Amino acid sequence: MRKKILAANWKMNLNFARAMALVDAVIHGLDDSLNTEVVFAPPFVYLHEVLLHVQRHSNLSLAAQNCSEHSGGAFTGEISASMLGSIGVDYVIVGHSERRIQFHESDDVLAEKVNRAIENFLIPIFCCGETSSDRDSGKHLAIVQSQLEKGLFHLPADKIRECIIAYEPVWAIGTGVNAQPEQVQEMHAAIRKILSDKFSAEIASAVPVIYGGSISAANCASIFACADVDGGLVGGASLKAQDFLDIIQLLEESIA
Ligand code: PGA
Repeated sequence: MRKKILAANWKMNLNFARAMALVDAVIHGLDDSLNTEVVFAPPFVYLHEVLLHVQRHSNLSLAAQNCSEHSGGAFTGEISASMLGSIGVDYVIVGHSERRIQFHESDDVLAEKVNRAIENFLIPIFCCGETSSDRDSGKHLAIVQSQLEKGLFHLPADKIRECIIAYEPVWAIGTGVNAQPEQVQEMHAAIRKILSDKFSAEIASAVPVIYGGSISAANCASIFACADVDGGLVGGASLKAQDFLDIIQLLEESIA
């Protein structure tokens, strides 16, 4: 069975005190026996302190929200994958639509970020997803296929197997309008077919594919019930401990 993953993408939110109170409240509210891997993706400056809080728990992990496409050197303000690895970060989000759109990160740059992550033993959480106009014009499947092919599929099969794919339709992120379960299942099944055609059926069924975009406790049960959904990438609802705990609980129940 594929592992279930729920990642909290805090984006550029919370001051230090609030961030630590949030992580403590989530940890305090978790069941001892958890089947889900819960991943915190705080801003860079909080990573180390969050690590100290999560490292005693085997089901909790740490993600960075981004990394540089460069290995190191004169890149003022950037953070390398090797720095992240050296403090114990497990995952890195690559290709979030906010980075693609607002920071103009191209498919080529994202492919390099994936390379830096893999070289430094970080697991990429590779985001893909269409805009509303892509969907309206029926291009959503082709857009996601192209993002995967250009950003991720240069990896050999043994490295693809280690990645996590996050399907995040741009129109659903931060809007309060989540994709409908049928839309999510259609895309996740399509992603597995693309993986199967490019690599193998075995790889297609091994790679976790998670959904992101306005996930809430009110809408996530029907999304988590989809056969090809292995969890979620949660933005807004991960900033409130009880909301995030409720989503974790609903993912746990979908496994049972
Ligand atoms: P949202 O963000 O849950 O606030 O829509 C999800 C994401 O951007 O990863």
